[in-house]
Amino acid sequence: MYLPIMKKHRGKPIIPISDQRIEEYAEDHSIKDSEELRILIESSDEALEYIDMLSGSTVGGLLQMLIKLTGSKKILEIGTFTGYSAIKMAEALPEDGLVYTLEMNKKYQDLAAGHFEKSAQREKIKLIRGNAQKTIDLIEGEFDLIYLDGDKLRYQFYVDKVLPKLRKGGLIVADNVLWDGTVLQPEDHKAQAIAEFNRSMIKDPRVEVVLLPVRDGVSLIRKV
Ligand SMILES: C[S@@+](CC[C@H](N)C(=O)[O-])C[C@H]1O[C@@H](n2cnc3c(N)ncnc32)[C@H](O)[C@@H]1O
Repeated sequence: MYLPIMKKHRGKPIIPISDQRIEEYAEDHSIKDSEELRILIESSDEALEYIDMLSGSTVGGLLQMLIKLTGSKKILEIGTFTGYSAIKMAEALPEDGLVYTLEMNKKYQDLAAGHFEKSAQREKIKLIRGNAQKTIDLIEGEFDLIYLDGDKLRYQFYVDKVLPKLRKGGLIVADNVLWDGTVLQPEDHKAQAIAEFNRSMIKDPRVEVVLLPVRDGVSLIRKV
């Protein structure tokens, strides 16, 4: 299922990042979602007015590939939503792998918990309820990969918090770093915060960064 077609935007000014036909072609020629994830997308779409926050199969496939390439076993995710990316990442982990996923919204927590209970990956996922700004301190490392996909105003805060918990050579994957292209001329506070985060990462001697124009922009941030 090609998500951007059903993506309902909430009045953000949008600069198309890549041609929709190219995005569809890329999705058609990349790792497919499991049946379980297809059902999760449909049930999320039925339960909620907007599901444009869901990462989708191109970013999800990229996460799976990175997990396998880095031999990751322990993952931290900020922003669970209905559980798509947590299950997608868990599918790529070995049997003893673990994804901690942090969510503050009660409705999304409950939807995700329902999806996790039914999931073939349930033993590999731990949902941590509450504001990640606080719960992040309760979770002990060492992590191999950290997926930043929530609380977009505070990506810098999370990088500073999680870097000590990330193994050397481990990856932070930050989604939506192009914010529909608005980082080029940031006007609203979210675009400004993400643009500032991107500027800060490229100057940060603790990490190496590659910003990929995949979907809404994905930064690969490697701890040196
Ligand atoms: C883009 S969505 C995550 C999508 C999810 N990774 C997926 O692929 O389905 C961002 C989520 O972060 C959550 N969020 C935002 N701020 C948060 C915070 N401070 N603590 C925990 N969760 C937060 C939102 O409620 C939302 O569900």
